[in-house]
Amino acid sequence: MAENILFSIAEAIVGKLGSFALEEIGLLWGVKNDLQKLNITMSTIKDVLLDAEEKQTHNHQVRGWLTKLQVVVYDADDLVDKFDFESLRRRVMPGNKMRKQVCILFSSSNQLAFALKMGHRIKEIRESLDEIRSQRDFRLEKRVEETKSVSAKARETHSFVREEEVIGRDDERMKILQLLLQDDETKENVSTITLVGIGGLGKTTLAQLVFNDAKVQNHFGPKLWVCVSDVFEMRPIVGNIIKSATNGSPDQHLAMDQLQNLLRKQIDGKKYFLVLDDVWNEDRKKWLELKSLLMGGARGSRILVTTRSENVAKLSHTLDDQPFKLNGLENDKSWSLFSKMAFRQVQDLNNPKIVDLGKAILEKCKGVPLAIKTIGSILYFKNPETELSFFKDNELAKVTQQEDDIIPTLKLSYNHLPSYLKHCFAYCSLFPKHHEFHVQMLIHFWMAQGFIKADQSQSPEDIGYGYFLDLLWRSFFQEVKEDVSGKIRWCKMHDLMHDLAISVAGTSSVLTNKGSISSSENLFHVSFDFPLGGTEFLKSVSPLLKHHYKLRTLFVLHTYLDDEQELPP
Ligand SMILES: Nc1ncnc2c1ncn2[C@@H]1O[C@H](COP(=O)(O)OP(=O)(O)O)[C@@H](O)[C@H]1O
Ligand SMILES: [Mg+2]
Repeated sequence: MAENILFSIAEAIVGKLGSFALEEIGLLWGVKNDLQKLNITMSTIKDVLLDAEEKQTHNHQVRGWLTKLQVVVYDADDLVDKFDFESLRRRVMPGNKMRKQVCILFSSSNQLAFALKMGHRIKEIRESLDEIRSQRDFRLEKRVEETKSVSAKARETHSFVREEEVIGRDDERMKILQLLLQDDETKENVSTITLVGIGGLGKTTLAQLVFNDAKVQNHFGPKLWVCVSDVFEMRPIVGNIIKSATNGSPDQHLAMDQLQNLLRKQIDGKKYFLVLDDVWNEDRKKWLELKSLLMGGARGSRILVTTRSENVAKLSHTLDDQPFKLNGLENDKSWSLFSKMAFRQVQDLNNPKIVDLGKAILEKCKGVPLAIKTIGSILYFKNPETELSFFKDNELAKVTQQEDDIIPTLKLSYNHLPSYLKHCFAYCSLFPKHHEFHVQMLIHFWMAQGFIKADQSQSPEDIGYGYFLDLLWRSFFQEVKEDVSGKIRWCKMHDLMHDLAISVAGTSSVLTNKGSISSSENLFHVSFDFPLGGTEFLKSVSPLLKHHYKLRTLFVLHTYLDDEQELPP
């Protein structure tokens, strides 16, 4: 899934090709030898894939080679799936029925034609693999995957910085609370406080802290939370404010003025508190348009805007002189967060050499909690006595972190993921920014794509949940919601992590908000982030199905009824 990251697919193919079940089918279809040869070729390629995956970041020759290889490996995967399916069918079908079906399939003429077709296909794939293998004129090392997953126990006890465990921010919280609760002298009934700072600094976290504060609960009437992000369109924003107020989506077919009336009914004359999280809109006109809808609140109503943009802050902030500028965590708070994430044993913190190295590494994070957590989670797997110094002088030294961009640091953490988790993470690029993931469903998607490594002792769902917790622990997910039993049902992804997912997923995956998709032989995953209905659906989807016969995912994220268009006849 992630660009050319093929190791786990190749590994699964080799596993299946070597299985007794496939050997049996191979024998039955007369292609046992062909399957064995394919297995040898695939194994040789698999051995160097981990090295290739790593080298592709700096070497576009390797990247190009992997892109070509990806197509054939997916072909091989599809083929092996056919054998696997047949083997499964034979196992689950009751004897008589099976015998009957097999008799039809393996009537002498059928059997011969099928075996020939299969033999031919296996040969074709093997030849393509051989050709691609021979085109490689750069050196790759044989490598085996180190499995670095966090044990369930470790996740539950030591080192797991839970979401609700916010470190520091007491002063900031008090100041914002004061601004929210004070009687203001402003002309307007509804005032706006804007919290500004770079991505990953903890704006959403701080906004959540004050949102859930008991004083805020008692002081305001309706409390509303809307995540705005980069699309600043009136209709979804108004719809989402209503949704937050009523716990239910407004009727999709309402006209805009009806929606506005609904909104007014919820907030007019009431002392409300609204958080508009992650606003990007710098267009004054659009901002004023929204503001005019929100001004009917009772005196003392407050809007808290969070944003990365200074311009948005200047535009929206009305209370007090200056927008509220969030800074990095103080040194001692940064260290507290970092040491919880990075060190397994308390005694490491009594070793001055380790502490000095840790602090030097921490300096690079500039007090940004998201960076601290991700770097900390990398170090958790390292031996603090022997590996910290190398990490600092080599891996971390290569990261060119700009003042306001922590993506290179996040990428480092991605590079340290085992191959199967890279796939799982990159697959999330198919969902829009700020999407709320249904964890169970996400795990089913991972299963369908073959990212979950089978294990006799656990169900694939349980293994997938372990993967999810691992990614959560490394901060690839956040904002979780648990059910009564403590199992996580929903989660989100930080928008910078989403940017990272898109960049590592590469050109084989596309999340599109328009109908046409440029044709590419290597397109494997497509998701449509706009309502598709009737003829539109056919127009967008049928060329894809026609040309991209290797398509492995096709998501239509909105149903037709999400839109206000009429149903097709
Ligand atoms: N004070 C804090 N202590 C611990 N973790 C924090 C703190 N602030 C933020 N985080 C964590 O850092 C990550 C990014 O925080 P977030 O509030 O989403 O950043 P922003 O909204 O500024 O981009 C989240 O995983 C969050 O849990
Ligand atoms: Mg945020």
